[in-house]
Amino acid sequence: MKKLLFVCLGNICRSPLAEAIARDYISKNNLDIIVDGAGTGDWHVGNAPYHYAQQVAQEFGIDISNLKARQVNQNDFTQFDLLIGLDEKNVADLKNLGCKNVVKLGNYLEGNPDIPDPYFYEGYEGYDKVYKLIEQCVIKLIEKEK
Ligand code: 4NP
Repeated sequence: MKKLLFVCLGNICRSPLAEAIARDYISKNNLDIIVDGAGTGDWHVGNAPYHYAQQVAQEFGIDISNLKARQVNQNDFTQFDLLIGLDEKNVADLKNLGCKNVVKLGNYLEGNPDIPDPYFYEGYEGYDKVYKLIEQCVIKLIEKEK
């Protein structure tokens, strides 16, 4: 069974959304793919997703309140078929850690966008934009990798 790992910086905003959107799509389409999420940083290990991320997921009918942040580790590079960075920096950090099986989520969409980090710069509105962008990319990713 294919295993995909979404990786952002804190694992409390973007990768939990990507993981949950992917899991929802996989389940609705009866696919056999395992997904997980992790962060390159360790600041939020053990924490639930940020409240705005939980809120936007809820708005779209997905509950992410039970997810817990974890930091990516070397085992992930062999345990997962593919690691998917949410932006260029995530991809570069993973490559620096020795990960070879890594792509950027935005590469599945025309224009290869970075998924911007909504944590630092924007209020709730940023989360709505990011959710929709992640959803578009995740569907393309799953359709390609299934
Ligand atoms: P994420 O957002 O990478 O989408 O989970 C962040 C959340 C928190 C921090 C960085 C990014 N932080 O430095 O605390």
